[in-house]
Amino acid sequence: MALLAITIMSCSGGGGDDSPAPEPPPTTGGGGTTVTAPTYTANIKSIIDGNCVTCHNPSGENPNVLLQTYAQVSAKAADIKIRIEKPAGDPLVMPKGGKLSQANIDLINKWITNGMPEK
Ligand code: HEC
Repeated sequence: MALLAITIMSCSGGGGDDSPAPEPPPTTGGGGTTVTAPTYTANIKSIIDGNCVTCHNPSGENPNVLLQTYAQVSAKAADIKIRIEKPAGDPLVMPKGGKLSQANIDLINKWITNGMPEK
């Protein structure tokens, strides 16, 4: 009985953050490798550069919203999340007139959820 009490106590100790991390869905980057901790420099910049910066630059279609640096992208993260999750064909979906791959959407969402690490 004493042993049981000790077991229970040792299990419930620790203060709440005992998240067992239930297998996250695999997120694949450009090369097909699984990315569990995406960073702006390693993962996000290339997605934005390849799909967004043609318009979101000072002489592009939307020069009001620049997406060329970490500071610019992280400041717009909440809006970016909304826009990239619009269905293809939605007038508000970004990239405008297109749709990111689900892998890239997952990667950006994971990056935002993780607190937008720069590197
Ligand atoms: C073909 C040009 C084009 C591309 C490519 C493009 N955008 Fe846009 N984007 C626009 C235009 C034009 C607007 C303004 C009209 C609107 O809000 O839909 C806009 C608006 C936005 C907004 C809303 C900004 C605000 O605060 O009002 C966000 C966020 C955004 N784009 C993110 C992105 C992201 C992220 C990508 C790449 C995945 C992307 N865009 C690719 C043209 C583009």
